[in-house]
Amino acid sequence: MCEKKIHDGLQDVLACKSSICRIEMIDGKAILEYRGYDIHELAQHSTFEEVAYLLLFGELPTKSELEAFSEELKELRELPPQIIGLLTHLSPFSHPMVVLRTAISYLGTMDKHIHHKSHEKSLQKAKSLIAKFPTIVAYFHRIRSGQNLVHPSDELSHAANFLYMLHGVEPTKTEAKAMDLDLVLHADHELNASTFAARIAASTLADIYACVVAATGTLMGPLHGGAAQKVMEMLREIAVPWRAEEYVKMKLERGERIMGFGHRVYRGVVDPRTIELRALAEKLAKEKEPKWFEISRAVEEAVYKYKGLFPNVDFYSASVYANLGIPDDLFINIFAISRISGWTAHIIEQYENNRLIRPRAFYVGEAGRKYVPIDQRG
Ligand code: ACO
Repeated sequence: MCEKKIHDGLQDVLACKSSICRIEMIDGKAILEYRGYDIHELAQHSTFEEVAYLLLFGELPTKSELEAFSEELKELRELPPQIIGLLTHLSPFSHPMVVLRTAISYLGTMDKHIHHKSHEKSLQKAKSLIAKFPTIVAYFHRIRSGQNLVHPSDELSHAANFLYMLHGVEPTKTEAKAMDLDLVLHADHELNASTFAARIAASTLADIYACVVAATGTLMGPLHGGAAQKVMEMLREIAVPWRAEEYVKMKLERGERIMGFGHRVYRGVVDPRTIELRALAEKLAKEKEPKWFEISRAVEEAVYKYKGLFPNVDFYSASVYANLGIPDDLFINIFAISRISGWTAHIIEQYENNRLIRPRAFYVGEAGRKYVPIDQRG
């Protein structure tokens, strides 16, 4: 094998065919589509339920299909008592993403058909996971903070119900719409690291829970979904907009990364989701606490001035979540609550057009060494 064939970080490698998400750069502008529908149109007109249906089934639902799908999700929201027991027994100091992946694994132990991979069975498991993710996250948060569980409402939408279960009060229309839009924007993004992890697991024909656990673990890293929590830490540290420039300059001079900036795919172009999230963050800032948005704008200007980088999807998510009263350590979970729709769509696509994903490594270690018995080693 020759070294020049190595694609460090698999940058720009086309690893599979997919009809779920399209990212294309045209005339210096990024296009992002789910199943061929532009993200800006979906952001304006769609809901998370509709987008999840689109990702899973490949088509926009009719009115009755959407109603049936939304009803099915509502019926699947509640957790089995064993999972609630698990959430009660886990350390309240565990990171909620660690709790989420543990609960997913536990759900797998309760599925008698865990290894069944027919299209119908996989869709059923996907719907169950999509429906239960918000409940796992909200229940754990209430348990760890000593509050009573708020059971899922069968009146509210997916997004509104999550906020209701988390806070114990129904969200306002603006809050519910903001949460819903955020879920639409995070639902899928082609072969990002967590989705690729899910597809690698699926390519071994591992069960769907194993694939989702792989994805959940991968999403947690600060270079991926973990960035939003780090962004919030940064906004809190900066504390006032006028300190942003000095902070960014100092970090960059030290060779440190600014969380929420840069992207493997959107290089020198704006991530289309950022445009929507910035507008959403601004809208919420006008109605709620303006500080986080103002600091974010100042950071964005400074990072562009000193490094020429644009914010990614995680950057404005932070101020949106803060204004929705979501604790910092749940930010990655919100990402997962949305991305489970994309993960499961990709897992099903992988199952149905499978070839084991097994790349090679270019070996750079020593070769052909002679084994030395332990008593003869220096
Ligand atoms: N802060 C400062 N400089 C950065 C940043 C950043 N956030 N991101 C990239 N750069 C710089 C690099 O130092 C490098 O500069 P150089 O050419 O002067 O050495 C250049 O931009 C290219 O960076 P790469 O390392 O090649 O970028 P890569 O594609 O490997 O990494 C990544 C992408 C991981 C997202 C990176 O931009 C990063 O670490 N960002 C911060 C973490 C983050 O926000 N992650 C969320 C990503 S979105 C998502 O997963 C949901």
